[in-house]
Amino acid sequence: MRTKEPIEDYQVEQGLDGTTAEHAGFGRRKFISLCLGGVGALALSGFAAVVYPLFRYYLVPHSTQSSAATFQIPLNDLVPGEAKFFEFNGSAAVLLKKQDGSVVALSAVCPHLGCIVQWEQNKQDFLCPCHAGYFTADGAVISGPPPRPLAKLPFSVANNIVTVG
Ligand code: FES
Repeated sequence: MRTKEPIEDYQVEQGLDGTTAEHAGFGRRKFISLCLGGVGALALSGFAAVVYPLFRYYLVPHSTQSSAATFQIPLNDLVPGEAKFFEFNGSAAVLLKKQDGSVVALSAVCPHLGCIVQWEQNKQDFLCPCHAGYFTADGAVISGPPPRPLAKLPFSVANNIVTVG
């Protein structure tokens, strides 16, 4: 025995010529809006997949000092476990006071394709967001495509001032 379907599952449309059409549950408008939503979601995800790596590539943490042949900072301004990014000779660089108090000065430019690495404070390592390259706090490659460690920069500590370069 056939049961009667609820009235809200039906939609009746009247065309310009006066004819009517019944559509069970899934109307034309609903179908078109679902298609448009799907196309929009695809376009948005494609856009994000292209733009996000570019955005991250150019996302260089800014320092208050401009590009120079040397970079100086009081040792006490370096917080253990935190990285201080700066520009050095026109390129991104980073100073890090490790948890044991030792200081590391590195280029922040990934040796794979040149993206700028980020410091992951919770993991105490560097991440290159472009292709998921990971480096230790000393710049050694942990995993990913980088072919060599982050370049070490020369630095000295005198009178409680760290000088890079
Ligand atoms: S540019 Fe850094 S992993 Fe590719």
